[in-house]
Amino acid sequence: MSDEPIKSKKFSRRAFLKVSGGGAVGAAVLPSLVKTTPVRADGAEVFKGAATIQLKVNGKARSVEVEPRTTLLSALRHQLEVTGCKEVCDRGECGACTVLMNGKTVLACMTLALDAAGKEITTVEGLAVDGKLDPVQQAFIDKDALMCGFCTPGFVMSVRALLNKNPHPTEAEVRQAVAGNTCRCGTYGRVFEAALAATKATNGKRG
Ligand code: FES
Ligand code: FES
Repeated sequence: MSDEPIKSKKFSRRAFLKVSGGGAVGAAVLPSLVKTTPVRADGAEVFKGAATIQLKVNGKARSVEVEPRTTLLSALRHQLEVTGCKEVCDRGECGACTVLMNGKTVLACMTLALDAAGKEITTVEGLAVDGKLDPVQQAFIDKDALMCGFCTPGFVMSVRALLNKNPHPTEAEVRQAVAGNTCRCGTYGRVFEAALAATKATNGKRG
C-alpha cells in the first residue's frame, strides 16, 4: 500500500461528495423553489444560494431566506429572533428545541426550514392568549418546575401537545410525553406535578 498522502491524489472529500450523488439526491427531495447551479462535469447539480420561504410562526406569516441545510431552529432563532426554542445539543438529543408543527411536536434542530414551509409552527411564545399564559406555562410557574429554565420551553411544548390530544393524562402518560426532553437541573418531579396540575386548568387546545 502506498504511503502517499491522500491529499496528493487530487481527489478531495468535497469532490467525492459531489461525485457520489449528494447533489442528485438533494435535487430529488427538495422543492423546486431552491435555485440550483450545475457545477459538475458529470452533470450533477449542487445546491447553491438560498431560497425565500414563508413560515407561519405563531399565527403570523414570516418570510425568511434559507439555504437547503438551514434548520428550522436556526431560521427561528437566528433569523426571525424567535428564541423561545432553545439551542442546546443541536443534534436531536435533548428536546430543548421542541416546537409544534401542524400541532405535532418536532425537534426544530432536526427539521429543515424548507420542510416547515407553509406549515403552522407554534413556539412557546405563541401559547399565551391575550396576555394570559397558557395553563401549562402557569402550572410550571406555580409548581416551581424550573431551575435554570433552559429546558423549560421544550417541556412546556411537549406537555401542551400531550394535553391537546389527551386532556386528562396519567402520570405515566406525562412521563412518556416528555421522555425526549432532558433537564440537566433534575426538575423532573416538579415537571410531572406541573403537567398534572395543568390538566385541571386546561380548557381547549392551543398551538
Ligand atoms: S437542541 Fe434540538 S434536541 Fe437538543
Ligand atoms: S431547569 Fe435547568 S436544564 Fe432544566
